[in-house]
Amino acid sequence: MTQDELKQAVARAAIEYVPANEIIGVGTGSTANYFIDELGKIKDRIKGAVASSEATAARLRSHGIAVLDLNDVDFLPVYIDGADEITADGAMIKGGGAALTREKIVASVAGRFVCIADGSKLVTQLGAFPLPVEVIPMAQAAVARQLKALGGEPRLRMKDGQPLITDNGCMIIDLAGLHIADPRDLEARINNIVGVVTVGLFAQRGADVALLGTGDGVQKMS
Ligand code: 5RP
Repeated sequence: MTQDELKQAVARAAIEYVPANEIIGVGTGSTANYFIDELGKIKDRIKGAVASSEATAARLRSHGIAVLDLNDVDFLPVYIDGADEITADGAMIKGGGAALTREKIVASVAGRFVCIADGSKLVTQLGAFPLPVEVIPMAQAAVARQLKALGGEPRLRMKDGQPLITDNGCMIIDLAGLHIADPRDLEARINNIVGVVTVGLFAQRGADVALLGTGDGVQKMS
């Protein structure tokens, strides 16, 4: 199976985790897009969704799914999203699609985080994928210096020759070359740097369930 077919398979499997007559949280990225396409097929079973990015909101609406503001929702039974890396205990690196801040916010009000990914995302130690850090633009050089002191190689994410600007009007620094032995500790340390909006480590609140697409079918980790 191709990587896209594996992503489609986990997207289909995730529909089982969508409770009827509820509002659910929806992530961002190619795997989340496949999930949204599957959700479109059962849209009459849910009340709507809270989106983790403008791109996800647009795709949900294109399927006729109501998109709600998180401020109008008290609780989400489930949040379903992809990951760039995930360990067996559910710690993740996210933010390859630059949506890490809204992803972390929406996930924080969800009862359950269901991660959907192709099996190549499963790792024994996080860090081969450069760690995204969303920063306030005026602080990007200062934050980069502090991130370098942690032992990584910071690079400002660019798009079309300009710094990429997130849905929140911020920038992304990708921190390469890390070997993350203690993801919870590193998450706390980077969160503590003045000027950081969000670090793409999802360890303090990781995935509760992971559905991983493999050649032998969808494997569940929980
Ligand atoms: C976006 C994310 C995505 O979940 C992550 O980048 C995985 O993307 P894909 O499903 O395209 O492999 O965190 O900010």
